[in-house]
Amino acid sequence: MKLGRNDICWCGSHKKYKSCHLAFDEKLEEMKQKGILTPPHKIIKTPEQMEGIRKSGRLNTAVLDFVAENIKEGMTTEEINTLVHEYTISHGGIPAPLHYKGFPKSVCTSINEEVCHGIPDKNRVLQKGDIINVDVTTILDGYYADASRMFCIGEVSPEAKRLVEVTKQCLDAGVAAVKPWGFLGDIGYAVNSIAVKNGYAVVENIGGHGVGLAFHEEPYVCHIGKPNTGMLLVPGMVITVEPMINAGTAEVYQDAKNGWTIYTEDGALSAQWEYTVAITENGAEIITK
Ligand code: MF3
Ligand code: CO
Ligand code: CO
Repeated sequence: MKLGRNDICWCGSHKKYKSCHLAFDEKLEEMKQKGILTPPHKIIKTPEQMEGIRKSGRLNTAVLDFVAENIKEGMTTEEINTLVHEYTISHGGIPAPLHYKGFPKSVCTSINEEVCHGIPDKNRVLQKGDIINVDVTTILDGYYADASRMFCIGEVSPEAKRLVEVTKQCLDAGVAAVKPWGFLGDIGYAVNSIAVKNGYAVVENIGGHGVGLAFHEEPYVCHIGKPNTGMLLVPGMVITVEPMINAGTAEVYQDAKNGWTIYTEDGALSAQWEYTVAITENGAEIITK
């Protein structure tokens, strides 16, 4: 159905189409004709949805801050799960991982050579020298926000520290590449350039995603890319940037027993940081850190 100029815009602004997204849709149509991959309307958030995602993001950040205050050597990953679960529930949220496609816990905890999707375990104790990714996703009033951080347990090796720091630089470069009317490939290019310059490898087949109304939405955000390629980024989209960077080979495999945990093929260290980012008229807004 084609909207008339005086109809109410599809975006949720309650404004007339002609004074809201008409010019935007014409621009998208023109780009589509040139062969550019344009985002479907369904992944462009309304102002109300954006506000809901921001609120969810604030709780998600508070959960990660709570983990940061409490994580320590000698603690089990099950205890991290309890911290995340209880803090989230007591603040009116739902931990999105729990029962997501059968995932058994409320948070992902991935240590050392574990790349992502590590399952909290009462027998896994945090040891001095470990590097751990804690990946928290919150649902608040139906809106999703997703972020993860690395934590160093006690003193870690200089190699581990450098990997954690460079991976954060990869995330920051990826986020800096998020621009309205830019391209998805710009993000992957920025991330991969930093990783390669430092002698590291980027995991290619697990990456970021659209987020907000569901856990994983379109588009897939690959952390390797070419500038000016892939989906067009437009105001109203919300995506994650979450590079997984390996100290050795880029190759990974999945745990055959639990069906979730991803490991580096060569057993070398891996690190990851994740933000949820909204694309605005002026640039990128970090929704949750
Ligand atoms: N939080 C992860 C992401 O960043 C996804 C975890 S899925 C789960 O996309 F089921 F393992 F929780
Ligand atoms: Co995540
Ligand atoms: Co994510």
